[in-house]
Amino acid sequence: MKILAIETSCDETAVVVLEGEGDIKKASFKILGNALLSQADLHAPFGGVYPNLAKREHQTNLVPLTAQALTDAGLYETEEGITPSQEEALSDVRDVAFKTSIRDFIYATKAPEVDMIAVTHGPGLEPALWTGINFAVALGKAWNIPVMGIDHMEGHIVSALLEPDGKNFTLRAPKLPLLALLISGGHTEFVAMDEWFVYERIGETKDDAVGEAFDKVARLLNLAYPGGPQVAALAARSRIRGKNEIIFPRPMATDATCDFSFSGLKTAVMYKLQKMDKIGEEDKEHIAHAFEDAVRDVLIIKTRRALASRDIGSFVIGGGVSANDIIRRGLVDLVQNEFTDIEVHLPDKSLTGDNAIMIAAAAYLRASSGKKPHAPIFASGSLRLS
Ligand code: KG4
Ligand code: ZN
Repeated sequence: MKILAIETSCDETAVVVLEGEGDIKKASFKILGNALLSQADLHAPFGGVYPNLAKREHQTNLVPLTAQALTDAGLYETEEGITPSQEEALSDVRDVAFKTSIRDFIYATKAPEVDMIAVTHGPGLEPALWTGINFAVALGKAWNIPVMGIDHMEGHIVSALLEPDGKNFTLRAPKLPLLALLISGGHTEFVAMDEWFVYERIGETKDDAVGEAFDKVARLLNLAYPGGPQVAALAARSRIRGKNEIIFPRPMATDATCDFSFSGLKTAVMYKLQKMDKIGEEDKEHIAHAFEDAVRDVLIIKTRRALASRDIGSFVIGGGVSANDIIRRGLVDLVQNEFTDIEVHLPDKSLTGDNAIMIAAAAYLRASSGKKPHAPIFASGSLRLS
């Protein structure tokens, strides 16, 4: 089954053509085409993602990226002539320039041999999500291909189960029940999956997400957006030096829930900076180090509690912050030392950030287990796995 997948929930425009084979226990995925453009540099001056700029960039980039992914997959053929379904297809697209660009594309492109189009329908920035959805639905109508909406967080769970094999992937079929710790710019939550695609949330942040805390601390340290990788790089330099006297609190570490709170940690960093008269490069490195340690420890403490609270076969982490080496190592050590019966799966570094491979793979797994696309597809900024 060939799937064209589109991800526009935040500041990455990503389009993939993926060919899936096999059932949910033994699936493999060939990446036939993969085109991704990050807008991070454009948003950097705003210190975060600016929704209308993200939307405009997605509108500009979706057609060329889709053409590129289809070309790489050997599925792009030009065609003259307009069919009635192509005329009808544009009815939901309101932005004039975007509509023109989609019209030019579908009028000149032969329906590719793709079995399904998958598109992220939430959670994320609604203007950004709608851009991807309107585009996917227009292509689906014009080419008569079913369109499936996929939850971005389900994509992050699936990303942890993809074992790289050259530029392709095979599914590491997890032992169920699975527990996922999702840590991204907008989310921090524990989600249990007792059977495929049936979710139960067992803990979540009461305020900031982990990625958001990294980004806010980065701003306090005068680092550009997205700050997570830069804070981690600063912390690494302090770790090499070995000694660090700064200690930040571990918020909510002793309460009995699997919930989190990270806004106080960011405030603790702010107070620390306010108390220092002169802030040199080394001070910043120590602060980043102490902050990263505090985040890692809270994640470990809460994961220990979550894993002990119910019967779990495998533990996965997903989301942008799962790129963090200190957090990865801390969580893997926890499971390997204290929960020896539980499998642990981490996403390949190429899949930790937002991408369309995870959306395509999730759509394949849903379709191959008999789930049907349901229309109409709505963007939901606050979509929750259930
Ligand atoms: O999943 P993602 O790419 O986008 C959302 O769905 O939110 O996550 C982005 C978040 C940003 O907050 C970014 O700073 C953080 O992931 N991040 C990191 C690292 N790489 C990305 N945080 C800590 N350490 C990293 N190495
Ligand atoms: Zn994400």
